[in-house]
Amino acid sequence: MIPPKPPAREGRVSLRRYAQLFREDILSAQPARLYRAWMAEFRTPFFRSFLCNDPSLVDLVLKERPDDFPKSGRIREGLAPLLGNSVFVTNGDTWKRQRRIIDPAFEGGRLRDTFPAMWDAAQACVARLEARAEGQPVEIEAETSEAAADVIFRTLFSIPIDHEVAGEVFAKFKAHQRAQPVLNLGALLPLPRWFPRFHKRETVKTAREIRALITSLTAARMEEIKAGTAPDDLATKIMTTADPETGDVFDTEEMVDQVAIFFLAGHETSASALAWALYLLATHPEWQDRLAEEARREIDPAEVSFPTIKRLRISRDVFRETLRLYPPVPMMVREATKCEHFRDRDVPKGAQIVLSPWHQHRHTRIWDNPDAFDPSRFQTENGKQGLRCAYMPFSAGPRVCTGAGFAMAEGPLILSMLVRAYSFRPVEGRTPTPVAHLTVRGKDGIWLAFTPRKA
Ligand code: HEM
Repeated sequence: MIPPKPPAREGRVSLRRYAQLFREDILSAQPARLYRAWMAEFRTPFFRSFLCNDPSLVDLVLKERPDDFPKSGRIREGLAPLLGNSVFVTNGDTWKRQRRIIDPAFEGGRLRDTFPAMWDAAQACVARLEARAEGQPVEIEAETSEAAADVIFRTLFSIPIDHEVAGEVFAKFKAHQRAQPVLNLGALLPLPRWFPRFHKRETVKTAREIRALITSLTAARMEEIKAGTAPDDLATKIMTTADPETGDVFDTEEMVDQVAIFFLAGHETSASALAWALYLLATHPEWQDRLAEEARREIDPAEVSFPTIKRLRISRDVFRETLRLYPPVPMMVREATKCEHFRDRDVPKGAQIVLSPWHQHRHTRIWDNPDAFDPSRFQTENGKQGLRCAYMPFSAGPRVCTGAGFAMAEGPLILSMLVRAYSFRPVEGRTPTPVAHLTVRGKDGIWLAFTPRKA
């Protein structure tokens, strides 16, 4: 069974129609040829963009000369009410300084320290689902979203999602997304200056409320750090790390910006990947059984620890394959700061360079059977080659996702814990259609039924 793939756009369309399609769903707005092209150019009266699938061009933009291809300032405008000056939207020296302060908190050794919090969140998720394990349809994205938000709060601030402030941030964030998806991918379009801006009054209001809640957590932590009573979690680590070059530490305001992006980037993406992984397992019962068997064998709640994650090999391959088929961040946009020459074409200064994990991961000239779900592909030559040159769910180069290692620990762990406890099956008539909102989601959610797994 081939997992759901959005229909491609048929034929040429007017710019107006393209913009409309793009706003509805960036994936189905694209023509089918992007799954086999190395590069494609789009010309509009306002901007020119170049979608690059050619691995050497992707390397050039992300790894070899990233400073020449920064994020567009327009992205920042779209996200400013919630994210302020966070590492996700800054460029140049500010961005470099922020990464020097943040990165140490996510390095291997520190990651190990977050394990108990991840484990507690995974157990809490299994417990929450118990009441619903009756074989009735359940919208699973809502559940994985809560689990991923729980992981973020526990690892960052040592509080669970049912803590008053954490719960409120989570609830307000959902309301915020309903009013105006934060990373409405439309915000990536470099529309002319006179085009109506994105911030509705409602969005600005919810953004302000979310930031006020995060500020209360961050300010309280600042006090605990001063008093020497702060817990040893990610927030403390980041807030006490000085930039090795300037000696700077984040003040409360700048830390609030970073917490907002950790919460946003860290929970929406993992939630999306976990929900699709459960759907793929529900529709591929042979893989679900194998994963359940591995989980039963390797996870002993009495003596589980960080190295356990390394032994969850099937779970890791399933999660990896899910990220290939449904990369939570389907496309990334950069701006050319000078004229370039890509594959015999002139790329003017200011052109948008679109890098598309969605298309690269399903490229027909790179992957064998690209639309099929086959976690064992990573053991084959073709799969290994694909991983090396055409796999970028976390982006690549110096601007790679800060949380990549974190997500690759959290995802397989939660997946294994859930499948160890429950058997998942698809719901008839509810095949999800992938659409790209903030992340790649099911158009009407992802519905599954589950019951306790028999021994
Ligand atoms: C499966 C889960 C995840 C996926 C697929 C993912 C994917 C990505 C991608 C593709 C980018 C680059 C976006 C761009 O350059 O336009 C990114 C950036 C980022 N991610 Fe993740 N992410 C995940 C989980 C996390 C987690 C758990 C955290 C933090 C706890 C996190 C924090 C960040 C941050 C801070 C950035 C901005 C980095 C920068 O611009 O320097 N992500 N992520």
